[in-house]
Amino acid sequence: MDRLISLECCVSIFVLIIGISVPMVYILETWYHDRGIISEHKMKLMIGIMSARENFEYRQALRSTWIKDIGAINQVSDNVEYKFVIGSKGCDIHMKNRKDIYSCERLNYFKPRKLQKDEFPFFTTEISESRGVKEEHVAFMYNLSITMRYPIIVKRLGLHLSVHLTRRPITVQIIDASTEQSVLSAKFNTVDGGIVLQDSELGINNYRFQPVHHVLLPKGFEGQLVITCDDNITLSPGLLDFTFMDNTGGTLDFEPIDGKNYPIQSEDLNYFIVPNIIGSIHEEEKFDAELRNSVILDSEHVIHEEHADEELLEEIDLYNDIIFVDVTDVYRNLPRKLLLFHKWVHSDRSVQFVLKTDDDCFLNIIEIMKSLTRGLSARKSWWGNFRENWFVERTGKWAEKHYRSTEYPAFACGSGNIVSNDISEWLASNSEDFFIYQGEDTSMGIWLSALGPSYVQDDNWSCYKDCKENVLTIPQLTVEEIQQYWNTMQTCGKLCSC
Ligand SMILES: *[C@@H]1O[C@H](CO)[C@@H](O)[C@H](O)[C@H]1NC(C)=O
Ligand SMILES: *[C@@H]1O[C@H](CO)[C@@H](O)[C@H](O)[C@H]1NC(C)=O
Ligand SMILES: *[C@@H]1O[C@H](CO)[C@@H](O)[C@H](O)[C@H]1NC(C)=O
Repeated sequence: MDRLISLECCVSIFVLIIGISVPMVYILETWYHDRGIISEHKMKLMIGIMSARENFEYRQALRSTWIKDIGAINQVSDNVEYKFVIGSKGCDIHMKNRKDIYSCERLNYFKPRKLQKDEFPFFTTEISESRGVKEEHVAFMYNLSITMRYPIIVKRLGLHLSVHLTRRPITVQIIDASTEQSVLSAKFNTVDGGIVLQDSELGINNYRFQPVHHVLLPKGFEGQLVITCDDNITLSPGLLDFTFMDNTGGTLDFEPIDGKNYPIQSEDLNYFIVPNIIGSIHEEEKFDAELRNSVILDSEHVIHEEHADEELLEEIDLYNDIIFVDVTDVYRNLPRKLLLFHKWVHSDRSVQFVLKTDDDCFLNIIEIMKSLTRGLSARKSWWGNFRENWFVERTGKWAEKHYRSTEYPAFACGSGNIVSNDISEWLASNSEDFFIYQGEDTSMGIWLSALGPSYVQDDNWSCYKDCKENVLTIPQLTVEEIQQYWNTMQTCGKLCSC
C-alpha cells in the first residue's frame, strides 16, 4: 500500500516537473532561436583560453565581458564551457637570470679560465681519465650555432690541430644568422697555419689560432661559427686522449649544426669542437657583479612567486574556471600547454568542438555559436583564419631551429580557431609523441598537416587588432580595450562602434 502511494506521488511530481520545464525550455529556446542561437543541435563547445599565471587582470576582464555571454547561452542547455589554461609551475628563476624572456633557462655564468690578461679560449681540452678513446666513438663538430648571452670581444679564431692543413686555405668564420653575412673570418693553410698557444694548465695546445680584428658580439647575437674549405677536410688522428671542455663562461650557448644549419641531435657521443674562439668579456666587472647578484635575485623572485601562488589559489576558489597543466608557465611551453589542454578535455569532458584562444582576445561568442550551428562538419574540421606560406624564422622570438623547411604548413591564427572533436582527440592521444616546435599555432599547423583536416578558411577569425563588425575575435587587446568592446556591445549590439 505504502509503495503504491509513494509511486503515485513520484509520478505526479515527475509530471509536474515535466509540465513546468518543457514549456520553459521551449520558451527559452524560441527566444534564443529568434536571436540566432539555436540549441537543438545540443552541441558542446569547449573553449580553452591560454593564460599566463600573472595575467589575473586579463582573466578578470574576460570574466566581466564576453564570458558573461556563455552564461546566457547556457540558460538553454549546457552548450558552452570555458577554462583558462595555466601552467602549474611558475619559473623560479628571476627574469634577469634567464637566458631570454621566453623560456625558463638559467644563465649559467661562470669564471672562464684565462689564458693571458683578460683573454680566454672558449673551448679547451683536458687529459682524459679514460685515455685512448677510439676514433669511431668521437664526433668532430665542424659547425656550431651560437647565441651570445653576454657581450664578448672576439680576438682570435682557432682550428683544431687534428685538421690536416693543405695549401688551399681552411676558413673559420662567424656568420650573423639574421643577415647571413660573415662578421669575422680567419684562414689557415700550410703557409700560414697560425700559432699554437701553449698553456698546459688550460689545455688549449690542441688548437691553432689566427688573430682577427677585435669585434664585439653583443648580448643576443645569433650566428654560426663555421668551417669552410674548397677541399675535403681530412683529420690526423692521435689527439683523442683528451676530453672536451666548455670554457665559455656561459657567455654563449652553442649547438652543433649540420651543413644546412639544422641542429645535430646526438646525445651520448664524445665530441670535439673543431673551430675555436679567443675573446674577452666586455666590462668584466659588470659580469662579476651579475655573477654575485644572481643568487639574491633568485631568492627575491621565489618570494614573489609564492605570493603569486597564493593569489592564484584564491582565484581558483572564487571562480573554479582554471585548469592547471603540468608545464612551467613560459612562452616556449605553449605548444605543450595546448596539447595538455586537449588531453584534459578528453579525460574529463565530452564535447563536439574545441576552441583555442588567448587571454588578450575578445571573443564574439554569440556570433561564433550562430556560425557553428549553421554547420561545421564534426569530422576532421579545422575552422580558422589560416596563414599560408609563412616564412620560418630562425632567429628572435619566433626562432624555429628544427623544422626542416623554409615555410610552415597552413596554420590558424591563435586568436581563435576551432577543431572538431576527432582532431582534438587525436592530439590528446598522441600528445606525448609530438615534436614540440616553436609556437603553439605553428606547431598545430605542422602536427595537423599529417592528418589532412578540412581547413575551413574564415577571415572573420581576425588575426589583427583592427575591429570589423561580425568578426569572431579581436586579438592583442589591453584590459581597457576588452572592456570597451563589451561596453559598445551592451550599448548598441554592435562591436566596433555605435
Ligand atoms: C671530396 O670527397 C668526395 C667524396 O669522398 C669526392 O667525391 C670528391 O672528389 C672529394 N673532393 C675533393 C676536392 O677532393
Ligand atoms: C659547415 O658550414 C659551411 C658553411 O655553411 C658548409 O659549407 C659546410 O658544409 C659545413 N660543414 C659541415 C661538416 O657540415
Ligand atoms: C563573415 O561574417 C559575415 C557576417 O556574418 C558573413 O556574411 C560572411 O560570410 C563571413 N565570412 C565567411 C568567410 O564565412
